[in-house]
Amino acid sequence: MTSYADFYRQSINEPDAFWTEQAKLIDWQQPFTRVCNYDKPPFAHWFEGGTTNLCHNAVDRHLKDRADQAALIYVSTETGVEKTYSFTELHAEVQRMAASLQALGVTKGDRVLIYMPMIAEAAFAMLACARIGAIHCVVFGGFASGSLASRIEDATPKVIVSADAGSRGGKIVPYKPLLDEAIRLSSHKPEAVLLADRGLSPMQLVAGRDQLWSDLRAKHVNDKVPCEWMKSTDISYTIYTSGTTGKPKGVQRDTGGYAVALAASMKHIFDGRAGETYFSTSDIGWVVGHSYIIYGPLIAGMATLMYEGLPTRGLDKEPDGGIWWRLVEKYKVTAMFSAPTAVRVLKKQDPALLKKYDLSSLRALFLAGEPLDEPTARWISEGLQVPIIDNYWQTESGWPILTIANPVEKKASKFGSPGIPMYGYNVKLLHESTGEELTQPNEKGVVVLEGPTPPGFMQTVWKDDARFVNTYWKTVPGKMVYSTFDWGIRDKDGYYFILGRTDDVINVAGHRLGTREIEESISGHAGVAEVAVVGVADTLKGQVAMAFVVPKDASVLANSAEALKLEGEVMKRVDQDLGALARPSRVRFVSMLPKTRSGKLLRRAIQAVCEGRDAGDLTTMDDPSALQQIRDRVEAG
Ligand code: PRX
Repeated sequence: MTSYADFYRQSINEPDAFWTEQAKLIDWQQPFTRVCNYDKPPFAHWFEGGTTNLCHNAVDRHLKDRADQAALIYVSTETGVEKTYSFTELHAEVQRMAASLQALGVTKGDRVLIYMPMIAEAAFAMLACARIGAIHCVVFGGFASGSLASRIEDATPKVIVSADAGSRGGKIVPYKPLLDEAIRLSSHKPEAVLLADRGLSPMQLVAGRDQLWSDLRAKHVNDKVPCEWMKSTDISYTIYTSGTTGKPKGVQRDTGGYAVALAASMKHIFDGRAGETYFSTSDIGWVVGHSYIIYGPLIAGMATLMYEGLPTRGLDKEPDGGIWWRLVEKYKVTAMFSAPTAVRVLKKQDPALLKKYDLSSLRALFLAGEPLDEPTARWISEGLQVPIIDNYWQTESGWPILTIANPVEKKASKFGSPGIPMYGYNVKLLHESTGEELTQPNEKGVVVLEGPTPPGFMQTVWKDDARFVNTYWKTVPGKMVYSTFDWGIRDKDGYYFILGRTDDVINVAGHRLGTREIEESISGHAGVAEVAVVGVADTLKGQVAMAFVVPKDASVLANSAEALKLEGEVMKRVDQDLGALARPSRVRFVSMLPKTRSGKLLRRAIQAVCEGRDAGDLTTMDDPSALQQIRDRVEAG
């Protein structure tokens, strides 16, 4: 058996041989002729000359050996629906959806925007796009009209697939009015909107534009739609993520490289075996949902459990903090993937719930998306008695950058560390200002990757190569390296520790948000002169957004009733624009914001004050009383 060190070394020193071997894990229609074209850094083109299809690899190729086995297990504790689709059934549903999209005019290369709750139709839609070579752009269902509109504008979809409503903890969230408003706000208009009607909220259909999935499904119930053979480098999807500016970036992914990367990760990291069940509690609106609810498990021939609902509510809609464990027992889940924030929610439940079910099928729990704190890791590790595998990655990477590849070689995890660099990732730590590589243990630096980035990694920013290069690859003077925008240290054993973002991205309950987007929304309120939003540590959610507002009318500062009213309005505005996820936990009013003499907002100093830490070097600060005001406001509660 190879050691992980050798495995890793080969991936970096002999990438062609390494990835040629991994590429055997998927089906190719045409074999590739060049493993990696890195002629024009930082653009890496994987498996040139090869043709394949993601839907073929996720669905069709399993029909031979496991046609009647479960492929998609759908469970909603919001609607009480529980349904299993075999590979044969999934194959049929995906073809119906593919035929419906084609009937609406969708062809290869067209964008299809998917704005959907966690329902099986969302999975059909993603796979159907992959099948016919359309580019899917899934937008998280928790986002509101403003966020959705900017994504419609950027993706210019021919068709949008949506539904009447989502549901959270029994509360119906109508999607259709949000979608209509977003389409109204966007200068780009889709030709058609395909709607799944769950019967949760009445819909007003727009004549000539809106179509019901039930109608089209019936029309195309027996249609056969072959897979479109895609070039390995053809785009499979884009997914929007936040960064330093208010404008979300469309992270663009290829086809062949992504399929290989996922197949390899299922084998070497997640130990996912065909015929078994994988349960990721994420949402299709996030990268984890793309990689490890839909494509990864299905490519591996596993059944994937797609779950809609809270971790604390049962199928009978009654409180049930053991629902996930009940599902692990029932469907014999072998690998589970969640986020630390969900575990922190479960930690508040009766610990006996972990002992109530037979969890012997489970081999590991994978957690990602935010730092895994030691008390949470210990609690779940003792409760489940299986390895808890932290994994660090990003929307941009598509699969883990740092973790432990136990199937390759068993290695101990260390509390607080997601692990060591994964094969294919040439991870380095660089000094923040000099850009020099840090080689000594425990030095703090920026986590970067040297190109070429491995298969599955983002190809570019959708429609904006310059933004891709300038945002990610030009942060260190004189060196072309990919910046993760995360601080990190590496200990003497080579384990990394992630210490938070270097930019203005915050992480609320495992969801990545840009503070600039929230600031832009708040500045739109007529009563707001200036605003700063920072992420503040929170024991349950990891971080929450906190807003400091300079009101146009200074009387707000002295009038608590007016301040309360304005706070409510600001929160509502963010709710309507971006979604409740982005809503600041508090809006505090101040007469000025702390800035440098050149007018740059001192966000990190504000954050430090909110968290009761030392505000650091303030020699460039213009007026120290601004920070004192923030301190006073925070202390006043
Ligand atoms: O700051 C890091 C944090 O989440 C960011 C990426 O978020 P997103 O694009 O939503 O992708 C999530 C994919 C799992 C990172 O830049 N992050 C992610 N995983 C971890 C983490 N921070 C610490 N530990 C992790 N395991």
